Amino acid sequence: MKPVIVGISGASGSLIARQTVDALLDRRIPTIVVCSNYAKLVWQEEMDETFSARLSVWRETPHFTYHGAQEMAAPIASGTFPTSGMVIAPCSMSSAASLAHGVANNLLLRAADVCLKERRNLVLVPRETPLHAIHLENLARLARMGAVIMPPDPPFYLKPEGIEDIVAFFVDRILVSLGVEESLPERSQYGGRPPT
Ligand SMILES: Cc1cc2nc3c(=O)[nH]c(=O)nc-3n(C[C@H](O)[C@H](O)[C@H](O)COP(=O)(O)O)c2cc1C
Repeated sequence: MKPVIVGISGASGSLIARQTVDALLDRRIPTIVVCSNYAKLVWQEEMDETFSARLSVWRETPHFTYHGAQEMAAPIASGTFPTSGMVIAPCSMSSAASLAHGVANNLLLRAADVCLKERRNLVLVPRETPLHAIHLENLARLARMGAVIMPPDPPFYLKPEGIEDIVAFFVDRILVSLGVEESLPERSQYGGRPPT
């Protein structure tokens, strides 16, 4: 399978990034991670391990590649490098704004811009609340370009027991959206109960 790119930007929700990368690596899918500088700062605030400690764990798996945001000469900066798409999880409003306006001045943005121009899967997990009109307009522009806008809303109808449950469900949805999984697993379905 062609690699999947996971962009991690500096919005809250580092756990979503970690679980997404773990899920891809568990499936032995070639996974290329690119992380913004602010994402590392947020990770430090939110996680019980440093980003570099997590990188060391990921690097032990053969399907994993990492690039810093300044590595603009990395293969994923070019449309000729084949990938099956990209998720930015979480996606900051700043990265969404840049992307919506064709600004690609770091590798994360460039890789996402390549997905847009090559018409590849691009899933964005925007995390901000409340959203003002500029945020909404930027996200709408990106949706019109074909990006899937997937805010990390809790599945209240599944009665999640905690953040782990919510993130697990959400990562399942990302994998389906990226085409890595065909459908949601049992635990992520409605169980016959329609969402309210
Ligand atoms: C602890 C922390 C949490 C943040 N949470 C968010 C957030 O949820 N959403 C957001 O859009 N920006 C958030 N920010 C601000 C972004 O990090 C900031 O706009 C940064 O410029 C984003 O850059 P990047 O998109 O290159 O990562 C947060 C910053 C910090 C330090």
